Amino acid sequence: TSGRFSAAQVNNETSRSQTVSPGSNRKDDHIRLALDEYGDMRRNAFDDLAFVHHSLGSIAVEDVDMSTQVCGVEWDVPFYINAMTGGSAKAEQINTSLARVASATGLAMASGSQHAAIRDPRLEPTFTTIREHNAAGFVFANVGATVDVSQALHAVEMLHANALQIHLNAAQELVMPEGSRDFESWPQHIKQIVEASPVPVVVKEVGFGMSAQTVRQLAQMGVRCVDVSGRGGTDFARIENARRQEHEYGYLAGWGQSTALCLLELLPNDSESTVDSQSAANTESTGGAAAHTQVLASGGVRNPLDVVKALTLGAEAVGVSGHFLHVLNATGEDGLTAEINGWKEQVRSLMALLGARTVADLRHTDLLVTGTTAEESRLLGVA
Ligand code: FNR
Repeated sequence: TSGRFSAAQVNNETSRSQTVSPGSNRKDDHIRLALDEYGDMRRNAFDDLAFVHHSLGSIAVEDVDMSTQVCGVEWDVPFYINAMTGGSAKAEQINTSLARVASATGLAMASGSQHAAIRDPRLEPTFTTIREHNAAGFVFANVGATVDVSQALHAVEMLHANALQIHLNAAQELVMPEGSRDFESWPQHIKQIVEASPVPVVVKEVGFGMSAQTVRQLAQMGVRCVDVSGRGGTDFARIENARRQEHEYGYLAGWGQSTALCLLELLPNDSESTVDSQSAANTESTGGAAAHTQVLASGGVRNPLDVVKALTLGAEAVGVSGHFLHVLNATGEDGLTAEINGWKEQVRSLMALLGARTVADLRHTDLLVTGTTAEESRLLGVA
């Protein structure tokens, strides 16, 4: 019965786009509104984090190795193109461009939710273009926790994916009048998918952040890697509100925890750590909440300094959606390729400035936590 339930969920998602917004595709609305709202990404909790500058602490840029391990695979670059789209003609164009850029720059890349193609195989090309234009790259498949095991495995096969992202988006579903209202089957689905998946599974949020409690629950389900995807960038409460005339849930804009706060909450909390309410210098990457869970970060990452801050707070790699979509839209594939190559150089340079030869070394640098983020982390007991 769980299979039938899941299929109904997938179908439900599709009918929504037809009934809620006649004549326009939900995926196209998301792209358009994510771009419209992009200006709001200017200030966020990454601005509450500041490195202590040490004038004699820097090393040669050429000595920096910014490689990282994600899902058991070594990546040369510690940031990636996070999940966005698929399922429409416009989405196919974007996926093709992102795949070409990923291939040209050596970045890992995630597909958007593949539910549309699971329901209607005619839409598969809007996703498989990701693999066609990036044959050798690291690719994440992407489904929600509503799908059953066979649908999840189908999504992986469709892209010959290296890993599978399962997105958790309860806050987004609630804002959609026809969205799912029953989230209780999610843990069971996640557990079954993790058991059956031939590739590593990453459970991610979609911009609302992931608490340490959630990470612990996921670890008990066998999940070994999470992307906390916090508040501060793309806001699906705002986006879904903007798609309809009645903004009943307008007040949910800004729901959730910032990416910085999520990472702080996942830091090891032992007495040897030098973390206190105003400064953080963590020693281990995996966090106190679930010692064997690898942590990825995304949500509101605007520039290479945000990448370095997230790595310093324990992320093994950092995902970017909204900003890369904006750059692609404004400057095309060549522009996004140049932007990403610039980020690669700048992340390396910033690591040299901070005296970090490796991503692990960043965790011994001195990072001040100020403002709202310091206050919130105190309330969460991150001290
Ligand atoms: C997304 N995101 C997303 N995530 C997911 O797991 N499946 C999906 O289908 C989508 N779709 C999607 C469409 C668009 C247009 C955007 C901008 C984003 C969420 C994304 O992966 C990420 O978690 C959040 O956007 C937060 O990161 P940024 O955008 O602040 O960098």
